[in-house]
Amino acid sequence: MERILVIGGARALGAAVARRAAKDGYEVVVGARDLAAAEVLAGEIGATAVRVDLQDESTIAAAAERLKDGVDHIVTTGSAPHDVRATELDRDKLLAAFTAKVAGPMLVAKHFGPVLRPTGSVVLFSGVVGWRPGPGSLVKGVTNGAVEYLARHLAADLAPVRVNAVSPGVVDSGAWDRLGEKKTALLSKSAGGTFVGRHGEADDVVDTVMWLLRAGFVSGETIHIEGGARHKSA
Ligand SMILES: NC(=O)c1ccc[n+]([C@@H]2O[C@H](COP(=O)([O-])OP(=O)(O)OC[C@H]3O[C@@H](n4cnc5c(N)ncnc54)[C@H](OP(=O)(O)O)[C@@H]3O)[C@@H](O)[C@H]2O)c1
Repeated sequence: MERILVIGGARALGAAVARRAAKDGYEVVVGARDLAAAEVLAGEIGATAVRVDLQDESTIAAAAERLKDGVDHIVTTGSAPHDVRATELDRDKLLAAFTAKVAGPMLVAKHFGPVLRPTGSVVLFSGVVGWRPGPGSLVKGVTNGAVEYLARHLAADLAPVRVNAVSPGVVDSGAWDRLGEKKTALLSKSAGGTFVGRHGEADDVVDTVMWLLRAGFVSGETIHIEGGARHKSA
């Protein structure tokens, strides 16, 4: 049985990946900074839980030590958005955003490099905003863009372990529920910005992640899951 660690696995897309992986017969480890939340999901799906905070290297090192008998796949969904214009940047929030998407996954590679089995893979999370600049999306745009380069360079570094990224468009993952009534407007606007005329569902992303785990001749790539949104003019 292959073992998969899902970081950010207690909620939204991470939880959807963890659920599907458990259903598909993987040994799942739910990694989250909130261990109690990870344990609740792990209990539901027959997985185990481990605390991983991408902002705290010691938790990454401790998780790697705990799983040192081997991990086949790591999926990391971490994100710490800082949606402001350049003139409003807060340095700590800026660095936290880069840590969640870029530096944190690099430190995951540092500690899990020796633990990852050579036939395994890493899946990083980017996002369409990396390719669609707009006021207030500076940090999200650059961090998501950086993930494309991270996948490429980490693939060289961790080879033969494969490293890829997925880049979702707007997906009704649960994360947008915080918008309340405004969520419907966001989803419908995003649907209009695609060729396929709909917003994304969690399964669109999960299907792609599960494919990447098995796509043994794909490495260093970013797979876009956004209905063609990058190509459609406004
Ligand atoms: N949903 C979309 O429309 C969409 C679109 C484009 C890209 N994406 C990308 O897809 C990924 C998943 O998004 P989502 O929709 O599932 O919602 P999200 O709210 O962006 O999920 C972020 C995940 O990262 C975790 N996380 C944040 N900081 C962390 C840290 N320091 N250490 C460990 N985990 C941390 C969160 O866990 P906590 O519960 O601890 O906060 C949560 O599980 C993100 O990278 C996001 O940027 C999503």
